[in-house]
Amino acid sequence: MAQQHDGLSVPLSDLINCMSDTIDLVSPVLADHHNRVGLVAHALACQLGLTEEERIDLHFAGNLHDIGALSLTDRVRLLSFEGCEPHQHAETGALLLEMFGPLAGLAEMVRFHHVMWADGAGEVQQGKTVPLGSHILHLADRISVLIGTMDGINLLVRVPDIRARIDKMSGVMFSPVLVEAFNELSCRESFWLGLAFPGRSPSFDPRAHLRSIRLDTDGILGLSRMFARIIDFRSRFTATHSSGVAAGAEALARLSGRSTEECAQMRIAGLLHDLGKLAVPAELLEKPADLTAEERALIRCHTYFTRRALENIRPFEAITSWGANHHERIDGKGYPYHFGGDDLSDGSRIMAVSDVFTAITEDRPYRAGMDRPSALKVLYSMVSQSALDPDMVDLLASNYDELNTVRVDAQREAVMEYSEISGKVAVMAAGHA
Ligand SMILES: [Fe+2]
Ligand SMILES: [Fe+2]
Ligand SMILES: [Fe+2]
Ligand SMILES: [Fe+2]
Repeated sequence: MAQQHDGLSVPLSDLINCMSDTIDLVSPVLADHHNRVGLVAHALACQLGLTEEERIDLHFAGNLHDIGALSLTDRVRLLSFEGCEPHQHAETGALLLEMFGPLAGLAEMVRFHHVMWADGAGEVQQGKTVPLGSHILHLADRISVLIGTMDGINLLVRVPDIRARIDKMSGVMFSPVLVEAFNELSCRESFWLGLAFPGRSPSFDPRAHLRSIRLDTDGILGLSRMFARIIDFRSRFTATHSSGVAAGAEALARLSGRSTEECAQMRIAGLLHDLGKLAVPAELLEKPADLTAEERALIRCHTYFTRRALENIRPFEAITSWGANHHERIDGKGYPYHFGGDDLSDGSRIMAVSDVFTAITEDRPYRAGMDRPSALKVLYSMVSQSALDPDMVDLLASNYDELNTVRVDAQREAVMEYSEISGKVAVMAAGHA
């Protein structure tokens, strides 16, 4: 295991970007939607003279606004310009954000980001006032939808069409004051080019300002827990999986004599190990049997996407390899890199064991989890095939009850959160019916 004893310090924006970039990988039609909504919301906030703090909040809210749209069908449906039925995804997104203190302030903006201006201006929805930020997000979201997959030059040519579509909805879908701010922004080619080529120009890229907000190990742990819920809640088959893997991996790291900091990082790696599943349509995760060869291949891409998302965060070097290597095997027959024993650190071996252990012992809607003898039989048969590390499996076997208890407790806590969120969303949907 890599010797890391110092605590982590990572810009919050890097973590949010790795989430929004992975969500947008799910389909080419989503292009750069989350990144773009963040940029447009930030630009509108600047145009309106909002404070630095409000601008940053709008940027983050834009980057995360559709985290509650958990399936590909949901996300693609949101790309129709005028489709504004009750938005369960906005409520789900808000409830997920409320789970993590430093981002809880964004929840209200996200909750109402599809409310029409005519319905929400000065009015209350669900007993709450619709904040200005929601209206800004709504406009930014619809601008991004109109841009779609256009490239830079095409975009400049189409600006008058986009302005006309937005103008037409002024006072109905959008606040006239916000439409005016957008019209001023839209006169500048630089605004559109910044969207077409984000991040290329330090003078344009507002993310530079966002990097000053940093999270330490505890903060990253809290945010990773929220990310794990977003990953897991997409499928009722694996609604608590990452929590179980994280708890098991942390316990194995502790039993191996690792430092408190390393154990915390192992937990973060466990919470994020299946992050790349965000790039796999939820419809596939909900289809446990009869997958086609293409569908199976797409699911197997998820660890590659986990690596791509996490490797951009430099202090995450160990976390990235521990998390992203969980389907690699000692004999080199895993995927996607086919690393062999020499390439796999103790941390990667722990994660692989915890992933298999959790997968076979957790209950799923279509089968009960295995009991101790059956689980150990599977784990030792994988050891005999040189797939899993024998020492880590021995460590698990000699501390089986402890390992199983931390796994069960962590998954029980996740189930309670899952039920709470789905219950609240169901109540909201019933209120709209
Ligand atoms: Fe949305
Ligand atoms: Fe959106
Ligand atoms: Fe996995
Ligand atoms: Fe997993």
